[in-house]
Amino acid sequence: MAKTRRDLLIEGSKVAAAAAVANALAPTGPLGIGQTLADPRSKIRRPGYALGFKSLKRETYLPRIGVDGKVPKWLTGSLLRNGPALFEIGEEKFNHWFDGLAMLHAFSFHNGKVSYRNRFLRSSQYWAWQKEGRIKFSELATDPAPDPCRQIFSGVSTLPVLGRIPNANVTIEKLAGEFRAHTEIPIPVRFNPKFLNTLGIKDGETMQGRLGTAHPHFDPQTGERFSYEVELVPPSGLRIVSEKRGKRRELAFIPQAMPGYLHSFGLTRRFVVIVSQPFNFNLAKFLSPDRGPIITNYEWQEDQPTRLILVDRKRGGVARTVETDSFFAFHHINAYDQDGKVIVDVCAHKDAGVIDALYLKKIRAGNKVPQARYRRFEIKLSNGKLSQRDLIDAYIELPQKNYDRVNGKHYRYAYGVGLRRGSSGFIDQLVKADVKKGESRVWREWGVYPGEPVFVPRPGAKTEDDGVLLSVILDGRRRKSGLLILDARNMEEIARASVPHHIPFGFHGLYAS
Ligand code: CO
Repeated sequence: MAKTRRDLLIEGSKVAAAAAVANALAPTGPLGIGQTLADPRSKIRRPGYALGFKSLKRETYLPRIGVDGKVPKWLTGSLLRNGPALFEIGEEKFNHWFDGLAMLHAFSFHNGKVSYRNRFLRSSQYWAWQKEGRIKFSELATDPAPDPCRQIFSGVSTLPVLGRIPNANVTIEKLAGEFRAHTEIPIPVRFNPKFLNTLGIKDGETMQGRLGTAHPHFDPQTGERFSYEVELVPPSGLRIVSEKRGKRRELAFIPQAMPGYLHSFGLTRRFVVIVSQPFNFNLAKFLSPDRGPIITNYEWQEDQPTRLILVDRKRGGVARTVETDSFFAFHHINAYDQDGKVIVDVCAHKDAGVIDALYLKKIRAGNKVPQARYRRFEIKLSNGKLSQRDLIDAYIELPQKNYDRVNGKHYRYAYGVGLRRGSSGFIDQLVKADVKKGESRVWREWGVYPGEPVFVPRPGAKTEDDGVLLSVILDGRRRKSGLLILDARNMEEIARASVPHHIPFGFHGLYAS
């Protein structure tokens, strides 16, 4: 059947991944000794963390890896991680950190021992690598090389081409016993958490011209799962959706002529909280012959406001919209209701420049990557009055918390990654924020680059921070990666396990007990 323009557009509207963005700051001066490692094949000194953007092609299973320290005996599950691991296919390169081929990793714990396994997600792009040795499908910031024959005969030059199974390299969700990898295409890719083999997508799941979120929320008290969809094709806008036992409900549709880029949202007992930022999709540009990869069709419109939108969970519909000066956020930290107010905490960037800063060329060269502040917004429900302040001094990204206990509720602690002030390099510390005291505590080690810290509560824990943090670290000096286990109460190291190779920087993961 011949494809219509709309079909092509629908297939083409993958804005992929988005992922979390880590932080990095940039070298403001010459890199210090010990911070760089010479690449033996070239005379260019690259920062030690550049190894985190080098492809890892090998799939392995290591039944027992070396451990320093003592892994708590009560830790008996797996840390599952998702992230890009292949940044080129043959001579063809992916342009952006968000574009690399998804790889799943599992660190599993049993009786104080640790095993490691990794496996590529079997996406359409993966199979194009294996069978055709080329980049065949579009990613966020990469299009396949143009096929001259197709252009001559079709006249349609460069609309993105999407695979059936997305390169879901951003997050992992556990839902009703199923493990699902996500990107920002609303098609989850299921996998087996033990062997990390891809189980595939459900029949009939297609993208239909919309984007979704890699960060859905689940409310264990009500059994509802919340997510959103962004319609890129007119009537364009943002749709908030809840699902309960497979039954879907549309809570609100917010029309947007130029849909804004969105990566996550907040959830309180009463509201779905959207932070809608003026990083807007330009459909006209997207349809023009000279458009680039998908992300290049978004425009930062600085003089437009960022909107905080409250959608009523019970009744549906928009309860309140407030505006503030433009800022950009990938990640919500938490949100909750309190005395006629709604509290919304996000990792706030000045603008969308952080996406631009994460092109592989720039990041490998050690260019400056903007940092995010821990920003609290308070919305008074009666009159819509908005106030805001930054809660801690340290930068924060890839935020995590004691999710089951505090999501949507008053809370005290959050964890994340960041860059110490004045340093030069990529994410180089783990941060614990105490929002009650407005203080932060950090873990850092020279030449070591940590990833998103996942909080695991200790069985029988009484306090919010009684548990451990699990973070995959890259040791730039030893040129290999490992798993760091911290006591979340004091951010001190309990144990560290090492693998004999590097693990490229990933985005998100979860602990499955
Ligand atoms: Co994210």
